[in-house]
Amino acid sequence: MKEQLEQILATAIADLQQQGVLPADVQPRILLDRPRDKSHGDFATNLALTLAKPAGMNPRALAEALIAALPKVDWLAQADIAGPGFINFTLSQQQLIDQLEHALASATTGIQAAPAPKTIVIDYSSPNLAKEMHVGHLRSAIIGDAVARVQELLGHKVVRQNHVGDWGTQFGMLLAHMEELGDAELDMQLSNLETFYKAAKKRFDDSPEFANRARELVVALQSGEARCRKLWQQFIDVSLSHCQEVYDRLGVALTRADVMAESAYNDDLPQVIEDLKAQGLLVEDQGAQCVFLDEFKNKDGEALPVIVQKSGGGYLYATTDLAAIRYRQNVLHGDHLMYFVDQRQGLHFQQIFTLAKKAGFARADLQMDHYGFGTVMGKDGRPYKSRDGGVTKLADLLDEAEKRALELVQQKNSDLTAAEQEHVAKVVGISSVKYADLSKNRTSDYIFDWDTMLSFEGNTAPYLLYAYTRVVSIFNKAQINPAEVSGEFVLNDERELELANLLVRFNEVVQQVADKAMPHFLCGYLFELAGKFSSFYEACPILQQDDQALRQSRLKLAALTAKTLRQGLQLLGIHTLEKM
Ligand code: ARG
Repeated sequence: MKEQLEQILATAIADLQQQGVLPADVQPRILLDRPRDKSHGDFATNLALTLAKPAGMNPRALAEALIAALPKVDWLAQADIAGPGFINFTLSQQQLIDQLEHALASATTGIQAAPAPKTIVIDYSSPNLAKEMHVGHLRSAIIGDAVARVQELLGHKVVRQNHVGDWGTQFGMLLAHMEELGDAELDMQLSNLETFYKAAKKRFDDSPEFANRARELVVALQSGEARCRKLWQQFIDVSLSHCQEVYDRLGVALTRADVMAESAYNDDLPQVIEDLKAQGLLVEDQGAQCVFLDEFKNKDGEALPVIVQKSGGGYLYATTDLAAIRYRQNVLHGDHLMYFVDQRQGLHFQQIFTLAKKAGFARADLQMDHYGFGTVMGKDGRPYKSRDGGVTKLADLLDEAEKRALELVQQKNSDLTAAEQEHVAKVVGISSVKYADLSKNRTSDYIFDWDTMLSFEGNTAPYLLYAYTRVVSIFNKAQINPAEVSGEFVLNDERELELANLLVRFNEVVQQVADKAMPHFLCGYLFELAGKFSSFYEACPILQQDDQALRQSRLKLAALTAKTLRQGLQLLGIHTLEKM
């Protein structure tokens, strides 16, 4: 509806320009807001206020002229002037009903497909494989996955890229430690990469011979020495299978096929350097190859270097990312490259995006965006740590989530069998962790707190999952298939109208999530929807309603609420439960 409204406003402006009321050269940006207060209509615009000056008119008079010039459409019930010159629009009830019917019938619950589908390459999760995934890896995996689902539903082609760190000097130390262990012991030790890494590091710090061997092995690995490669491959395979277990448990849609590791770009790195050199972009600084970009300066106003090759000849994180941009554009045919990576890498991405364009690695119209996120904090306000003060392995964290959820489910004393309780606990535990992350503004740090995330009150997964089962139970009780409710919408009660008006905003919210890569908009919406449904359900009896027409209409509102909640949670990567 927003677009239609924008359209008729644009027509009105063009009309006023033709009449000479507005200067022909103004190109106004039409902003439409959703007023908080329903008495201000469904949409509001400050258009007359922004155009008053170029038009040389009083804003209220201009608002009046704009309203008079609006083409007549049956879906608009009213346009009123408010305050100094705002225009409030009230849509007709028929268009509200049409939208509800459309959402009920539509496979996507009324979410509009993108008019021009793109290929979107989404870089997410992308852990370093030297260690096991820990709590710091949650956000990229969870947020990136939700955005990927949203883009896919909008009809874009999404290519997932798991840019895992499988290269670099730490691997020398790990390989040296592998060499020292017998096969049987190696298998056992690799089952916990966290302790394996620690043991290797300790050997490295304690023994100079070991450290030397580790350095030799880095050279051997980089020169492609076969035995060394094999050992490395063994380590990488184990580490990737640990990651896969975490993705499967989290319901993150990444597979081995999405892995495009740093090492996959090795062969292209000398070419990256050659091409930068040919462009005259390289400067040697203390033996290292650097590019200085004027766009990025330190606090003394000096240009900051992007180092692309070390004095010893080794390549860097940035070099690999430049190669990856080329690959994503030329081989994957990406139109938009999205990166879900910790906020602290913001400068790195701004630099390589700028450099990729400057060097012609990226077309001028290639869209590249880094979507940063804040840190996961403990209740003490510091980065989240396990009880022993170390980093928390993700696998352990998920175990704990399931365990806590099971206690919760058992306490609820429902009529579920033990097996059903286990299942519910798994879904509730994992969703709580995911939802706690998704529901916070991506760019802020957030506090990881079991009690809040597992609460049945507030904007949490348990609350929403439970709200969904309550809606579904209405249909189960009456043995009605929610997809087959007949009848017309009759919207008279204020609570019915509020619920209906919120239901039809689903599309708008999902588009916003796609635009800004901010899943918390959707969480906030679903939370509000569950609340509005509750108030409606309390005030407006459904199954006990004697008036058949009203009963059917309310059943339809309930059916659309269930459908919207399920679709919304699905987009967030959360499975709904039929009972809990
Ligand atoms: N492996 C990196 C890290 O853990 C993140 C990689 C993000 N993706 C990229 N293309 N740089 O910090």
